[in-house]
Amino acid sequence: MSAEQWRPESFRGKPNAQDIRYPDEAALADARDRLSRLPPLVTSWEIDKLRGLLADAQLGKRFVLQGGDCAESFADCRPDRLVSQLKILLKMSLVLILGSKKPVVRIGRVAGQYAKPRSSPTERRGDRELPSYFGDLYNKPEFEESARRPDPQLLLEGYRNAALTLNFIRSLSAGGFADLHHPEYWDLSFLSRAELPASLRADYARTLEQLGDALRFMEALGNASIGELSRVDFFTSHEGLNLEYESAQVRKVPHRDGHYLLNTHLPWIGERTRALDGAHVELFRGLANPIGVKVGPKTRGEDLLQLLDVLDPKGVPGRMVLITRMGHDKVQDALPPLLATIAREGRPVLWLCDPMHGNTTTASSGHKTRSFTDILAELEGAFAAHAAAGTILGGVHFELTGEDVTECIGGASGITEADLSRAYDTLCDPRLNHAQALEMAFLLARRMRA
Ligand code: PEP
Ligand code: CO
Repeated sequence: MSAEQWRPESFRGKPNAQDIRYPDEAALADARDRLSRLPPLVTSWEIDKLRGLLADAQLGKRFVLQGGDCAESFADCRPDRLVSQLKILLKMSLVLILGSKKPVVRIGRVAGQYAKPRSSPTERRGDRELPSYFGDLYNKPEFEESARRPDPQLLLEGYRNAALTLNFIRSLSAGGFADLHHPEYWDLSFLSRAELPASLRADYARTLEQLGDALRFMEALGNASIGELSRVDFFTSHEGLNLEYESAQVRKVPHRDGHYLLNTHLPWIGERTRALDGAHVELFRGLANPIGVKVGPKTRGEDLLQLLDVLDPKGVPGRMVLITRMGHDKVQDALPPLLATIAREGRPVLWLCDPMHGNTTTASSGHKTRSFTDILAELEGAFAAHAAAGTILGGVHFELTGEDVTECIGGASGITEADLSRAYDTLCDPRLNHAQALEMAFLLARRMRA
């Protein structure tokens, strides 16, 4: 397979484990054609810069925070949602900088996280069976025949929403977050909950105080540093599931080698679509972007090596991001052999821990949920496995939101199963809410200081 020549269209005809067909081929061709003529969302030099930062993170010189919604929706392309999403990621990153004593690379699951792999191509309700909802890029969530029909116009609508999202993020990142420099204004009401053990409360308070001191010190250094401090780098990522959407923005760039995917900085291949001979691996192997791959508990070391042979035959620093998502009960058995294999072969990869996707359960109410304790346990397991193997856990990957939702159980804010129906908003997987995400960052910082 890798012996064959790669072209932007060579993925066509390869097996696709999430083969979602558009009923109207002429309409698809038209939408694709229009999509491929639109200006790109990101530039090749931003992508090259990110590759350099990820190469540093592979060596333990930076720490990566990747996070955002499981599925972005077009309806959520709203200023308040985007501001709160960016703010929580930024707050977490400040806490993580303090804990890790390293610069943090911030990567959103944002501006294109519109396509979702599903375990079943169809959904049954009563005696009706319709195509599953595959994310706003394909179809709509309402359980109606017309809503569930894949619509190529949504490719264009998704691209426009991604552009609006990114435009706003870029403006905000250029200096719209001065208030974040004052942790005393953050919403930290969960810290006063009775459930929080006194030792943790003291630890969080100390962290906040140190953070405030550090930020005030930076500001006191003068105008230049205030400017620097107010401008934050922020990169985008999404699962590259819909190959019509992705391949339409694969471009040659003047004066640079190779082809770039210019609708995001960091595309990743999901756990369900990383087959070696599959269409997704074929498209992504030819891209110059850094590439993420989700790695589940059934993965063997041999599988990973074969994937790296295809996706990164030259071992380019910063190219490969392996995002492990094992489950809190499997991480201690499943991760060490993979770490050992990759270390033995001396492959440069960035290991991230996604403690969300191996820890999904169904509550008695029927809600998909995740427990804060399980999420934390997988993170602990990943840190321990890397320490034992002498490898580097270079970052973390979360599904989270800056909103006050009730989708995951636990944490100091005390969300229980009974709370799930109160503010269960996600279109797909359960996310950490504002308080849970921030508490997770405090706990991670504490772990990294230790
Ligand atoms: C996701 O990140 O939303 C996802 C579907 O993950 P995975 O491919 O690891 O199941
Ligand atoms: Co998800």
